[in-house]
Formats: sequence, structure tokens, C-alpha cells
Amino acid sequence: MTNVETLRAEGTYDRHRNMAATHAKYLSVWDIEAYYGESYIVQGVSFDIHEGEILALLGRNGAGKTSTLRTIARLDDPALRHGEIWLDHQPLHKMRAHEAARAGIALVPEDRRIIPGLTVEENLQLAQIAPPVGWSLDRVYELFPRLAERRRQEGVTLSGGEQQMLSIARALCRDIKVLLLDEPYEGLAPVIVQEIAKTLELIRDQGITTVIVEQNAVAALKLADRAVILDIGKVVYDGSAQDVLDDEKLRAQYLAI
Ligand SMILES: Nc1ncnc2c1ncn2[C@@H]1O[C@H](COP(=O)(O)OP(=O)(O)OP(=O)(O)O)[C@@H](O)[C@H]1O
Ligand SMILES: [Mg+2]
Repeated sequence: MTNVETLRAEGTYDRHRNMAATHAKYLSVWDIEAYYGESYIVQGVSFDIHEGEILALLGRNGAGKTSTLRTIARLDDPALRHGEIWLDHQPLHKMRAHEAARAGIALVPEDRRIIPGLTVEENLQLAQIAPPVGWSLDRVYELFPRLAERRRQEGVTLSGGEQQMLSIARALCRDIKVLLLDEPYEGLAPVIVQEIAKTLELIRDQGITTVIVEQNAVAALKLADRAVILDIGKVVYDGSAQDVLDDEKLRAQYLAI
């Protein structure tokens, strides 16, 4: 019997389904299973996020963090074969990537994807072309004064930290509900990490919900309200971020910190 058949037999399957659909937290990921070809990678992951919350999604290398973000953003790989994803009552699991983007999901991938040959401002303007348009340039520059100072500079010549700010700013140029950040602190000095963390708090204060994946688990846990830890494609912890910081055994076991 598969997991689903067992749940159905117990009569809990439909109850869970209904819970996912009607009493949804803002973003509700329910029992998602995703594959690269025949490789079973995301192995029944579930978690909920409230509106305006920051969730740290952590775990060792290869635990499935990027794959989980990509599944939520509805990219073709890995392919979602089971489970449901609801964003503010919208069924993301039935959508393709462009529809999920329109529904309010923004994935900021690890490599930042600044467009070469364009200035900071042109990178932002390009992000504003497709509706639904989000923040104005003035609002973006208020949040990222460094980008305002460098608006005429070519985007790819920015420092690593500034490029990360630009890729987050670009996401805000669309009318998004959820920001999915894959290792935003990678390669950045601690002082820049702190600056970006402060900005992410301001973004949360404006009502945006964030999932942050980070190797720098301590920095992510200090920022986040809650944490989910993955190990080999499964959730092994779901609870307060502070509790993870306080639990040496858990950190050693799943985060190697
Ligand atoms: N395109 C792909 N094809 C096949 N397997 C893949 C592919 N991308 C990732 N995987 C495998 O899926 C598993 C999870 O990878 P994923 O990138 O989601 O991990 P991660 O938690 O983000 O790791 P890291 O911390 O190193 O970024 C790994 O075993 C990886 O080798
Ligand atoms: Mg990754």
C-alpha cells in the first residue's frame, strides 16, 4: 500500500486534503514528492507558513533544499508527482512556473542571474515589464540605498552583496506574495550578511512571506521565525528557529554546526 492508499484507508486523506485547501496557512506545502527523471528526491515534504513569516529551510548538502524551492516555484525539474501546494487559496500544484510566478511566487536562485550589459536600473525596469507590477523604483531604492547610488552602474560589476540586493530588488518589482531565497548569503562577508538580513526584516514588515535556504544556518536561524530541517528529502524538524539555535544535538546531527 502506498502512503496515500494507507491514508485513504484510514479516512484521513480527504480530511488532510480539505485542511490543506480550506484552512490553509498562507503557504501550505502538503506531502510533496518530486523527481529528477526516476530519482526520487523530495520525499513527502510538508510544512506551512503564515503570512509575513520568515521560514529557514535548512539541511546538509544534497538534503533537497533547492529541489524543494524549485518544486514550489513549479519549475519543470524536479517533476512534482504527488502532493499539493497552496498559496493564499490558489493551487500552485496545478500550475506551471509562469502561472506560479503570476500567482505571487518569486524564486531568487543561487546564481543571482543579473543580466549582463544592463545597468542596475535597467535590470529593475525589465523586471517591471510584465504585470502584475510590484514596487515602484522609488520604493525599491528606499529599501536598497546602495542600489540607488549605483543605478547607472552595470549590474554585473556590482559587488557580490550588491548583486544579491539587486536580485532581491528585482523580485520585488513584481507584485509578489512569497520570496524564495536560495543561499542569499553565499560568499558574502558577515557585515554584508547583516545588512541583507536587516533588509529582509524590512521586507517582512511590508507583509511579504519569505523562505530562506542557507548553508549559513546560524545567520538564517537568527533571522527566521521558524525553521524546517530536511534530511535526505524528508522533514526531520519543524519548529521555532530559536529552539534549533538552543539545541546543540539537533544542530550537530542535521546541520553540522
Ligand atoms: N538536475 C538534477 N538531476 C538529478 N539529480 C539532481 C539534480 N539536481 C539535484 N539532484 C540531486 O538531488 C538531491 C538534492 O539536491 P538539492 O540541490 O535539492 O540539495 P540542496 O539541499 O539544495 O543541497 P546544497 O546545500 O548542496 O545546495 C541531491 O542528491 C542531488 O544530487
Ligand atoms: Mg541547494
